[in-house]
Amino acid sequence: MRRYLRIVLLCAACGFCSLLYAFSQLAVSLEEGAGGGGGKPQAAAASWLAGGGRGAARGAGSAARPGRSHRCKDFSLCYWNPYWMLPSDVCGMNCFWEAAFRYSLKIQPVEKMHLAVVACGERLEETMTMLKSAIIFSIKPLQFHIFAEDQLHDSFKDRLESWSFLRTFNYTLYPITFPSENAAEWKKLFKPCASQRLFLPLILKEVDSLLYVDTDILFLRPVDDIWSLLKKFNSTQIAAMAPEHEEPRIGWYNRFARHPYYGKTGVNSGVMLMNMTRIRRKYFKNDMTTVQLRWGDILMPLLKKYKLNITWGDQDLLNIIFFHNPESLFVFPCQWNYRPDHCIYGSNCQEAEEEGIFILHGNRGVYHDDKQPAFRAVYEALRNCSFEDEDIRSLFKSLELELQKTVHTYCGKIYKIFIKQLAKSIEDRYNRPPKER
Ligand SMILES: *[C@@H]1O[C@H](CO)[C@@H](O)[C@H](O)[C@H]1NC(C)=O
Ligand SMILES: *[C@@H]1O[C@H](CO)[C@@H](O)[C@H](O)[C@H]1NC(C)=O
Ligand SMILES: *[C@@H]1O[C@H](CO)[C@@H](O)[C@H](O)[C@H]1NC(C)=O
Ligand SMILES: *[C@@H]1O[C@H](CO)[C@@H](O)[C@H](O)[C@H]1NC(C)=O
Ligand SMILES: *[C@@H]1O[C@H](CO)[C@@H](O)[C@H](O)[C@H]1NC(C)=O
Repeated sequence: MRRYLRIVLLCAACGFCSLLYAFSQLAVSLEEGAGGGGGKPQAAAASWLAGGGRGAARGAGSAARPGRSHRCKDFSLCYWNPYWMLPSDVCGMNCFWEAAFRYSLKIQPVEKMHLAVVACGERLEETMTMLKSAIIFSIKPLQFHIFAEDQLHDSFKDRLESWSFLRTFNYTLYPITFPSENAAEWKKLFKPCASQRLFLPLILKEVDSLLYVDTDILFLRPVDDIWSLLKKFNSTQIAAMAPEHEEPRIGWYNRFARHPYYGKTGVNSGVMLMNMTRIRRKYFKNDMTTVQLRWGDILMPLLKKYKLNITWGDQDLLNIIFFHNPESLFVFPCQWNYRPDHCIYGSNCQEAEEEGIFILHGNRGVYHDDKQPAFRAVYEALRNCSFEDEDIRSLFKSLELELQKTVHTYCGKIYKIFIKQLAKSIEDRYNRPPKER
């Protein structure tokens, strides 16, 4: 009896192996059959992969190489890339084996980083520059959620399609919208553009976590790094923001606000990291009723109560909410949301002095006027930059020269902190030989 069992097992094993062999042969022959056609795009895709995930710009520039040998060489490629990042013509044998691996090792698909922005009025160029800065340094794939006024949709689409060769991001365009429940009443109370972000947890119901940024944000280090703060939340934290001010003597909320606000100087909502699953689940303490309210139920009474006392709209409402629920906020340091206030009267963001600026926030329109030339120089350098590796590598030198022309201003005096982290980000991403990933 046992002998029979052994023979059966042996046969099953042999059968399985020959099946695998047959499949891999089939895959190879299919590939060879398809291989004759478009040599160039395949080569571009292959070298994109070999380059470790940077844009096809690199591949498109180099001469076309024979497709198949390259495509099938690097086993680890399929293994580490989610399926959607693979060019359609890269598959066959390697990916067949890889699929078996993926199944048996239960590899998680690469987590996407969700980034949301609300663009109204003249904010197209600024928003595109923000998105570019996110793409240039980031490692994990990005999913953009762009809420824009209808007349901007076509331009966004054109511009983003022209970047689609990068394959490291995907996007969805939305009109400015209110949650379907009570839409009419929301519309009566809330200014659509200004309050859109408050509704993101209710509109993007399928999204677990989200980084919301204003259009006037520039990433000087990978989005991955701020995204990783989500994992540092303790069990009660649901969102993360930076303080509105470091220096109470020039703080706005502590001097002028006619409503409650978080902490000593309030928080700034220009860079807001959210675990929206938790926001949707939480019951919030408040000063309107003794019962705790859900996100979707707290906004309207809050606005009705404070309408006449708030100055900065949605940011004020967030401050009121986290005043009553301080255990739910993760406060990250000012270098993650560096604004002119941190240097126009002298430097007061100590973390940025030490480690450089991580995320630049050019509020008050400083990218577009001459009041803070240091901020404007960073913006223009990134706006002018293409995705070519050469361009990105030389970004640092030309920007440094521009910044040196701004030392007559308070912010320009400490221009080195504007490029400290940027230099490191470029070095990490573009100057090292591509690592096996
Ligand atoms: C990109 O986003 C669209 C939604 O706009 C979605 O349908 C599509 O599946 C996404 N593609 C990938 C590869 O993630
Ligand atoms: C967000 O919170 C939920 C519920 O606590 C958790 O399951 C999820 O992993 C969190 N998301 C991230 C990105 O940490
Ligand atoms: C609004 O501001 C006024 C004047 O400072 C104050 O008396 C009033 O209590 C405030 N309203 C609320 C709801 O806090
Ligand atoms: C999480 O951190 C916040 C802020 O530091 C704190 O107020 C809260 O008590 C912490 N929650 C837990 C469960 O430790
Ligand atoms: C960016 O380009 C504009 C015109 O295209 C030019 O005037 C400006 O000097 C450039 N700025 C930088 C920092 O390269």
